[in-house]
Order: sequence, then C-alpha cells, then structure tokens
Amino acid sequence: MTPDNRVAICPGTFDPITLGHLDVISRASAMFDELIVGVVNIPWRKGSTLFTAEERVNFVRNATMDLPNITVEPFSTLLVEFARQRGAMAIVKGLRAISDFEYELEMNQLNRQLASDIESIYLMASPQYSFLSSSGVKEIATFGGDVSELVPEPVARRLKEALAR
Ligand code: PNS
Repeated sequence: MTPDNRVAICPGTFDPITLGHLDVISRASAMFDELIVGVVNIPWRKGSTLFTAEERVNFVRNATMDLPNITVEPFSTLLVEFARQRGAMAIVKGLRAISDFEYELEMNQLNRQLASDIESIYLMASPQYSFLSSSGVKEIATFGGDVSELVPEPVARRLKEALAR
C-alpha cells in the first residue's frame, strides 16, 4: 500500500456468501481504493465447510464482478499476516447483533495484540440483512426452503444441488 492507495481486507469463511456479506463488501469497497475479500481456506479442517475454498472464492468473484476495486483471494494464514502481506491498513467486518459483538470483540483484541497497526472497522448490517447468516441459509436450503432472496442466484442454485435430499 502506498499513502495514496488505501487497501483493506474483508475476511470471512463465506460458506456461502450471502446478500448480507455482499452489502458489507460493497459498502467497504466505497471506503477504500482497494478491497481484498479474503476467503478462509483451512484444508486441514476438511469437511467443516459445505463448499470448497475454490467454490467459495468463485461465488464471491462472481457476485462482485461489477465492483472494480475488489479482488478475491483464499488465505490460510493468520488474518493479520494476510493483511500485512497485502499491505492492508484495515480489516473490515460486518456486525449484526450482540452475539456477533462478543465474538468480534475477542477477535479484535487478539488481532490487535498481534498487529496493533492494522485497524479493524465494523459496519453495521443493513436492517434487511440483520438476521441473515450462512448457517441459516444452509438450514433453510436443507429443508427445501427458498433462499433466492438471501444469496446470489448461482449460490441458490448450487445450494439446491448440494443439499438436495
Ligand atoms: O466468521 P468467519 O467468517 O468464520 O470469520 C473468519 C475470520 C478469519 C474473519 C475470523 O475467524 C477471524 O477474525 N479470525 C482471526 C484469527 C485468525 O487469523 N484465524 C486464522 C484464519 S485462517
């Protein structure tokens, strides 16, 4: 990052990306010159995600194609290391409810301990997405519910295939 190129990381597991994630990503992209969406890829925790890292990255790439300053990359290091390697000055995350706050406060303290120069910034979820989570979407899809208003269209299609009973 140069002083006139402000880079931030928007990290997450994105299993799968939801319209709530996209809302935070697009709002964050307007605040920085460059926004890198970091998709957690921990292969040794195999089976803990429904979709592979490659699929999750592709979902995010596909959904953010119209935003010119976004790149999407998998990462499997500490988040702050990834941010440092990419020259990011900030980590941007979304916050929905008090339950998010407790977890994010802990992550914030840990990340700050490791890298006090990288600031974490929290964007409040837009009201229409304040209930939305990847796990909720998977649960609805598992029981054949309609998730077309909650995730991008290609994700809804893949969820249907992946969770068809
Ligand atoms: O809620 P998510 O989407 O699973 O969050 C993932 C992430 C990486 C944003 C969160 O776990 C975090 O802030 N972790 C900080 C600690 C760290 O660097 N873990 C290694 C991740 S590869």
